[in-house]
Formats: sequence, structure tokens, C-alpha cells
Amino acid sequence: MNKKLKQLFFKGSNFLGAEFPIMGGAMTWISESNLVSATSNAGGFGVIAAGSMDKDKLEKEIIATKSKTRKPFGVNLILLHPEIEDLIEVCIEKKVDLVVFAGGFPKLRQIQKLKNKKIKTMCFATTVSIAQKMINYGVDALILEGNEAGGHIGPVSINVLVQEILPKIMEVPVFVAGGIGRGEIFLKYLELGAAGCQIGTRLVCSNESIAHNNFKEIFIKSEARNSQVSVRLDKRFPVIPVRAIENKASEKFLQEQKRVIKLLDTSNISLKEAQLQIEHFWAGSLKKAVIDGDIDNGSLMAGQSVSLVKKIQPVNEIISEIVKQAEEQITNEQRIS
Ligand SMILES: Cc1cc2nc3c(=O)[nH]c(=O)nc-3n(C[C@H](O)[C@H](O)[C@H](O)COP(=O)(O)O)c2cc1C
Repeated sequence: MNKKLKQLFFKGSNFLGAEFPIMGGAMTWISESNLVSATSNAGGFGVIAAGSMDKDKLEKEIIATKSKTRKPFGVNLILLHPEIEDLIEVCIEKKVDLVVFAGGFPKLRQIQKLKNKKIKTMCFATTVSIAQKMINYGVDALILEGNEAGGHIGPVSINVLVQEILPKIMEVPVFVAGGIGRGEIFLKYLELGAAGCQIGTRLVCSNESIAHNNFKEIFIKSEARNSQVSVRLDKRFPVIPVRAIENKASEKFLQEQKRVIKLLDTSNISLKEAQLQIEHFWAGSLKKAVIDGDIDNGSLMAGQSVSLVKKIQPVNEIISEIVKQAEEQITNEQRIS
């Protein structure tokens, strides 16, 4: 491997215990033992998505993943999960290598509990002050995720997050995510100081991903502009922004909001009831699309890098391509200078 690239990989690879500092971002319903083990076996770092799992399912999934790889992997825990404390216990019992906290910011006690058992922790940072707070809590690494990413997103692009937060964080490795589909851009983030990256959308159409063929096909057909952020029609409803490929369901979501707003404004329902009705709309919708293949009525969570997904291919090919593109880019630049 190119010597300079190897140096750029060192911090992140060392932290993850992986050949390449490329994390397979956890994707609910998709990141289970097959995709996670394939990612780690390909030299990246797979992460189980525990968002839809109870403690027994998570335990089984960790055991299944360990049976398919000897390489390290992580578990992504959504902090709003009703059984979050039990899921933390499972990660401790099963001695996972790393826990990635998502959907909020972990408490000091949750980080310390894992650290005391020598399990590394990671979480997302959306501002410099949150990053500093999490570092003070003892988190071992951070992820900056731009709103180009698929799924639940923050409001800021990765381009701005790397300017605003990355240069200010020296204490822990910082990984970047959102819109990363090729190695050239990955290299640039490493050169700016990132320890590595996290990709999600690019892995959905891997052979090893259990996503339904209909889900994979719509990814292959879609352009970046088809991946849009959910629209909130009224400030009274706390709709968490989600980036997904537009379909009949996103259209229906707008109609549903209009219907509920009308009911609320004519005092036929309370604000709480209206909020519940809006929140209820997407319940179970990712599973509907990913597992059942209902691409009209389900949620097609996908990042803008969906335009770089061209075919179904093995995970090791996707990861090697990204590494090769980074290597060709740096070698060409060295040749020119
Ligand atoms: C279908 C889908 C489901 C996702 N589910 C989760 C999740 O459960 N937890 C999480 O932290 N991130 C989730 N993400 C975000 C990914 O882990 C990753 O950070 C993101 O996909 C990176 O950006 P990219 O899509 O541009 O590659 C999901 C993304 C997608 C596309």
C-alpha cells in the first residue's frame, strides 16, 4: 500500500483494530450478522444495528456474527430504545469490541460502565461543545455525520462539520460519515485530519446485505436528487428529519400531515393526539421496505451517495474499490508534485 496512505490509515485502523479505517454504518434491519461479519472480514469494521432488536435478539446476533468472523466488530445502540440498559448489559456479557451510541447523547454512567469493562465507546457529535462534553465523559471516538447521509439526520452537511468541528478535536479519533461513496473523497477527509469514515448507503446493495431485492433495485435506479429529507409542514409536530428516496409513502406523509393539521386547527383533536398520529405514520415502515420489499408504502432510507450505487456486489469488492480509489488518488498527486 502507498506509504502515505498507510500513515493516514494508522490512527483509525489502530483504534478499530481493522485493516482499513472504514466503518460499515449500522443500518436498522440491514446490519445483522451477514453484513457485519462480511464488512469486518473485508478489512473494514462492521457494526450491528440493535435499533430493532430486543436483548435476546441482540445476543443471538452477536453470537452469529462471532461465528462468521474472528475480526472485531461493534454494536450500535439507539439511546431511546426502551431496553437500552439491558442492551448495554448484553454488549458487556458478550464482550463486544465497541459500542456506538446513536439517537442522542450517552450519559456519563453509560460510557463509564462500558469503559470499566474495556469496551470502547463512540457517539455522534453535532457541535464542538457536544464533542467536548462527550470527550469529558470519556467517549473514545466521535463520528461527524453530515445530512447527506441516509436515515435519521442532523441539519448540517459534512462539508461544514469538517470545517467547524474536525480541526478543534485533537483528543480522540474522529470518523466522518454522510455522502461518502468513493475513495478520493475519503482520502481528502483523512488529509483534513479524520481518522476514518463510516459508510452506509454504499453497503445496502452488497450481496451479503439481507435487504429485499426490490429495495436494492430502487437504490441502483436512483439518483442523488431522489434522496430527499422528509418535509415537516408544521412546527408543532416534532418530526425527526429522515433522508430517504422519495416514493408514494413520502407523498402520503404530506397528505397525512395536512389532514392532521386540519383536525388540530378545528379543535377536533388535542395537540398530543395530533403529534401521536404524525409520529405513528412511519412506524414499522423501514422493515416494510427492507424486509418485505414494499417500496411504495415503506421507508426507503438512503443517502445522497445512492447515485454511486450501480450494482449488487460483494462487500469486499466495495471496500477494496474505495481503498483502491484513495490509493490511486494519492499516488497520482505524488506523481504530479
Ligand atoms: C437504511 C439505513 C438505516 C440506518 N439505520 C441507522 C441506525 O439504526 N443507527 C444509526 O446510527 N445510523 C443508521 N443509519 C446511518 C448509517 O449508519 C450511516 O451513518 C450513514 O448511512 C452514512 O451515510 P451514507 O448513507 O451517506 O453512507 C442508517 C442508514 C441507512 C441508509
